Amino acid sequence: MVYDVVIIGGGPGGYASALYAHNFGLNVALVEQERVGGTCLLRGCIPAKAWLKTADVYAHALKAAEFGVNVGDVSLDWQAALSRKNKIVDGLVNGLSGLLRSRKVDVMSGYGRVAHGGVDVTGHDGSTQHLETRNIILATGSRPRSIPGYDFDGDRVVSSREALDWTERPDRVAIIGAGAIGSEFAMILGSTGAEVHLFEMLDQVVPGAEPEAAKVLQRELKKKGVKVRTGVVVGPAELNDGRVVVPFEGDYVDVDKVLVAVGRAPVTDDVGLESTAVQMERGFVRVDPNTMMTAEPSVYAVGDIVAGTPQLAHAGFAEGIAAVTHIATGQTVPVDYRAIPLVVYTEPELASVGLTEADAREAGYEVETHDHGMRGVGRAIIQGETGGLVKVVTEKDGPILGATVVGPAAGELIHELMYAVAWEALPEEAAAFIHAHPTIAEAIGETLLSATGRSLH
Ligand code: NAI
Repeated sequence: MVYDVVIIGGGPGGYASALYAHNFGLNVALVEQERVGGTCLLRGCIPAKAWLKTADVYAHALKAAEFGVNVGDVSLDWQAALSRKNKIVDGLVNGLSGLLRSRKVDVMSGYGRVAHGGVDVTGHDGSTQHLETRNIILATGSRPRSIPGYDFDGDRVVSSREALDWTERPDRVAIIGAGAIGSEFAMILGSTGAEVHLFEMLDQVVPGAEPEAAKVLQRELKKKGVKVRTGVVVGPAELNDGRVVVPFEGDYVDVDKVLVAVGRAPVTDDVGLESTAVQMERGFVRVDPNTMMTAEPSVYAVGDIVAGTPQLAHAGFAEGIAAVTHIATGQTVPVDYRAIPLVVYTEPELASVGLTEADAREAGYEVETHDHGMRGVGRAIIQGETGGLVKVVTEKDGPILGATVVGPAAGELIHELMYAVAWEALPEEAAAFIHAHPTIAEAIGETLLSATGRSLH
């Protein structure tokens, strides 16, 4: 039989493509060498957020007495938290497998390569099966990168992959890179009492985020005892006696584990692309952003391997939808990259959408910004979570270009600003609606009112 689409890779980009294809009655095979779910579900977003929840519950329990609740001695059961994380992942993998089955997707277990106009699947027994297909979607994802002097050894120098499965909490950890992964792990480990050294070569945590928001996060990390060092380049690690020494600027820290979180590289080296017309850019795959098609007709790419787009699960979902729609209908439904929310799930969460002030100025806009802190927001005070702010970036006399929320539930709240940015709302249009009181979202309402030139509180 000839498939309509064979998808290589069962992560968010690949499984979203497979699931969405049912809308058009396409015959689909999904090739995956492990369980379905990919980085996000198996060793990324989902397990990391499970650990962050454990850290959050623990931190709340420690300060329960402030709320008039005595919980006795609070202690951490790392094994129980690890089991809970695994149960969450297993449950979601089973759910996804069931959904793929019910959508009649043929999930093929093995390693996929583009070959002879179709896809070769090499099974775990070494045998190869050729799948004929009219279209191919490459969704092979990414793997952790490292830096010189920090070769992953799976034990002392690790990536997030191993750190999510630590069977006990390491006492002393150095984290290299304070992007999303580094900051989230610093929060997990700092909140649960480890000695954490967070190294970032640029001048703030979560580089690229609004500096005011990064400052809030940096302050909260410090409150958890995390030693944050920005603008610092580390020298090669020295491994001795079961420990690791991380040198920097004439000084050093001595730790049990080093977690390297300096970005992720695309997995495109052994998927048969040499024999195609697919164009590459530093290992990433070039696509037409209107269709997600590569330079090889009928070969598409989605997710972390795509050149010039964010490495986010939800971007992968959207790219899968765009690719499958083009395959099935010929219509172009390009992903709107202007308004993809980015959430760092620390405590407090840091979320943004659209352009930051610096991005907007660089793009040539005449910019206005407005912000509102959480300090006077009733519900934030009630929750004991007043570290945070909302910042909205507008074009002068024009629409909302971007926004950042740092504070409780920022990852949820950012979505109201997603609509504002995507629909190019004017501040007065967005401010015309009324936020419930008391809510954290009121901080957004207040910021929007300020952006109209007339503030309230
Ligand atoms: P990243 O690109 O977000 O951050 C890497 C950080 O490492 C940067 O701040 C960079 O300046 C720093 N860095 C690079 N080399 C360094 C060095 N030699 N010394 C010190 N610092 C150095 O990459 P990350 O955090 O590894 O995440 C990988 C991808 O996964 C990203 O695209 C990220 O957006 C995504 N992701 C998203 C999450 C979320 O949305 N919550 C969570 C985890 C990952």
